[in-house]
Amino acid sequence: MMEQEIKPLAADAPNVLEVSHISKSFGAVTALVDVSLKVKRGEVLALVGDNGAGKSTLIKILSGFHQPDTGKILSNGEETRFASPRDARARGIETVYQDLALIGDLSIYHNMFLGREQRKRFLGLNLLDNKKMRTLSRTYLDTLGIHIPDVNNTVDLLSGGQRQCVAVARSIYSSPSILILDEPLAALGVRESAHVLGLIQNLRRQREVSVIMIVHNYNQIFEVCDRINFLHAGEIVLDASTSETTEEELIRVVKSGLGKNAISAAASAAEGRATLPHH
Ligand SMILES: Nc1ncnc2c1ncn2[C@@H]1O[C@H](COP(=O)(O)OP(=O)(O)OP(=O)(O)O)[C@@H](O)[C@H]1O
Ligand SMILES: [Mg+2]
Repeated sequence: MMEQEIKPLAADAPNVLEVSHISKSFGAVTALVDVSLKVKRGEVLALVGDNGAGKSTLIKILSGFHQPDTGKILSNGEETRFASPRDARARGIETVYQDLALIGDLSIYHNMFLGREQRKRFLGLNLLDNKKMRTLSRTYLDTLGIHIPDVNNTVDLLSGGQRQCVAVARSIYSSPSILILDEPLAALGVRESAHVLGLIQNLRRQREVSVIMIVHNYNQIFEVCDRINFLHAGEIVLDASTSETTEEELIRVVKSGLGKNAISAAASAAEGRATLPHH
């Protein structure tokens, strides 16, 4: 699946989402400082950084969960304000949060269609089409290679990894124009991770849906992402294309904790066998 050619982004692909000079504090904690980021149509952008760097806060702003203290958000070139996640969803932005947002005592298939329930008319009544939602959920999960025996079970019977799979499946199948994933692979097994990465690679091949994903495993970034933004202490200190950067360079920058233009500085720094940082 992975070896098929990925065509480069069109030079004239428009920015579908852009934030400029965003800052955000929580009381005395400064989570983001003057952050600017953009993503083009069809582009897959990786957001990386240490724990507490501000990654989740940034995507919560992009998805309407938080409002920035300062700065602007442009959606398809138009200045906008997302008052809520619902607002952002209405603009085609679908988000899987790190702290998931599934409803534990609802069935798996109801969770898959939360806020987007399938309905049918019966004897003049507008009813939930449970049969259709059940069948579609089954199909979606099977297509993703996610093994869940019974979609009628409630979500609180699932393991952490299975829950994450359901959340990712739900977002991927809701036809977003921008898909935002906060550590989608964190709780997934090897097989499930490969499926999710395969799906992202498929989206990338079509170059229509944009993806912003927080990932910690640099291997995976270079496999499926076009560009990397590295957040350090609330600031984006590196914006690099994966085709012009190597995994070793990225690791060196992350380890050195250097600021802007870190790549070239780090490249000339002392040699040393780079290893993946654990966190
Ligand atoms: N709702 C909140 N209230 C107060 N402080 C917060 C809140 N959300 C985040 N923070 C703080 O903002 C900073 C950035 O947190 P954030 O969750 O964005 O980090 P992160 O990069 O996603 O980290 P991780 O890799 O651990 O998920 C942290 O210091 C965190 O404690
Ligand atoms: Mg986070």
